[in-house]
Amino acid sequence: MKYLSKSLSDTKKFAVKLARQLRGGEVIGLTGELGSGKTTFTQYLAATLGVKQTVNSPTFNIIKVYPIMSLRACLPAGRECKRRGNLVIHGIASPTARNDKKSIRQFVHIDAYRLRSPQELKALGAQEYFQNKNAVTVIEWANKVKPILPKNITLIKFRLNKTSRLITIFRH
Ligand SMILES: Nc1ncnc2c1ncn2[C@@H]1O[C@H](COP(=O)(O)OP(=O)(O)OP(=O)(O)O)[C@@H](O)[C@H]1O
Ligand SMILES: [Mg+2]
Repeated sequence: MKYLSKSLSDTKKFAVKLARQLRGGEVIGLTGELGSGKTTFTQYLAATLGVKQTVNSPTFNIIKVYPIMSLRACLPAGRECKRRGNLVIHGIASPTARNDKKSIRQFVHIDAYRLRSPQELKALGAQEYFQNKNAVTVIEWANKVKPILPKNITLIKFRLNKTSRLITIFRH
């Protein structure tokens, strides 16, 4: 499937659409040149899934893990709950509210750019996150660690043109 993003808000819409399909346990590999929009997409995806913290590129840490609180924990008796990012939630009608019925409790952000080999990522325990049904894992520069990625990975390729970004999604 191909998607043409002409703005940040287009990328956000794409991320919201994908977030709605996630149930937990997914591994999403991102490829594309420097500045093609991988981190931007990741930030919108994380915010939509209910990550409250600012998601920054984990270049130096390689792996960053963000908790996702259950909606019940922050929404007493159906009252409005403001979340960081793009969502203000009323009642249970929002995409994030639906997340409460799923089991996504962790958002894992990996940046493979600085790794010298896939084995380095393996040594950091990345495969335990891949198997975690309560986590959604996003890997920037996934092409650098292909041998250790799970077979059922969703691959998203970003291609930067002059004024737009072509986003292509495989195997989803
Ligand atoms: N769809 C878009 N429309 C306009 N600007 C965008 C879009 N996506 C990303 N950008 C901008 O492009 C710049 C680079 O984006 P981003 O950091 O997401 O790229 P990246 O692929 O993660 O880069 P790197 O390879 O360095 O990690 C940022 O300033 C971001 O705001
Ligand atoms: Mg990045």
